[in-house]
Amino acid sequence: MNEHSPAGLIIRQKEPRNLESPFDRLDSYLTPAELFYIRSHFPTPNLDRAGYRLRINGAVRHPFVLTYDELRSMPAETRPATLECAGNSRVFLVPQVPGAQWELGAAGNAEWTGVPLRMLLERAGLADDACEVVLEGADRGIPKEEPRPADPIAYVWSLPRAKALQPEVLIAYRMNGRNLTRDHGFPVRAIVPGHYGMASVKWLTRIVAVREPFHGYWQTTDYGYWDSLSGNPVRRALGEMQLKSEIARPRVYETLPPNRLYTICGAAWAGETDVTEVCVSTDDGRTWAEAELLDPPRRHAWRRWKFDWLTPSKPGRYTLLSRARDARGVAQPDGHDPKYGTYVINHCLPIEVFVDDAVGA
Ligand code: MTE
Repeated sequence: MNEHSPAGLIIRQKEPRNLESPFDRLDSYLTPAELFYIRSHFPTPNLDRAGYRLRINGAVRHPFVLTYDELRSMPAETRPATLECAGNSRVFLVPQVPGAQWELGAAGNAEWTGVPLRMLLERAGLADDACEVVLEGADRGIPKEEPRPADPIAYVWSLPRAKALQPEVLIAYRMNGRNLTRDHGFPVRAIVPGHYGMASVKWLTRIVAVREPFHGYWQTTDYGYWDSLSGNPVRRALGEMQLKSEIARPRVYETLPPNRLYTICGAAWAGETDVTEVCVSTDDGRTWAEAELLDPPRRHAWRRWKFDWLTPSKPGRYTLLSRARDARGVAQPDGHDPKYGTYVINHCLPIEVFVDDAVGA
């Protein structure tokens, strides 16, 4: 296990650890583990390699148990994937809403190595009528939001059968070529590319196939949203990440010199499709110009982008926006969709900056 210093991270909550990445330091395709955000609901469990067991059971023909070494000896895959917490950018909601006040850095892109979940489910003989696969973590506690279950619970999330069988879903033990750190799920976690971070269960100790939809605490009370069925609201679990772009530099309220070339830069990602275009506005959305995409499209991983801006000669306050478009022809919305409550903040986020000749003279 690598222990790392979270020295570069911003504290949103000290314990359990909820630490944000300094997004303005974005300068590589892969976010280094020590700068990757940490979102934990309960204290980090202390698991060790020797005692680690992963149980695969429920609606399967041949339940089995794997040790850490057995998992690591199976054929593995390595792939990049962007994780974004569904509450990322909550600080941009006006009026303010409850929950950790994440700015732009509850998102990161890393390369994950592990065994496809599909391979484990095939080995277990997944029952034809299993409709979901429940991923269970070793961390336990009493959740914060009402209504709460009576006793302490584990962090648990279920995947629809179809997603669980996609080749990109990994039971991962390495991040950016090194063993997972404790905060990021050592020794083993799930990585569910294309879905919000809550699906990527850390400290994974059990995989249970179920024959009826799983309505656990986390995907109903917490990470749920109001969908509509025949005109009536119904509660559903969050899933696919929504298209989003973020400006990394300049930072909110940064002061820039007038009449200077400044490179605005950031990253953009989509759920189960690709980002095809990012446009930037430097006049609060009146006009837009295309940014240059710096990374090739790779399903489930972000693309960084940049745009050279000649800062205005007139000092003042300017609002910058970025807007991504995806291969389905969808563009980022102008505002937050209230059906998502305090989650899925994927609208064009205003970054206000000042142009002032007192700097850079
Ligand atoms: N898994 C467990 N066991 N416990 C947790 O609290 N948090 C989830 C997910 N997996 C969580 C978990 C949430 S909400 C997110 S956004 C991601 O882990 C964050 O992963 P990271 O801390 O490695 O960035």
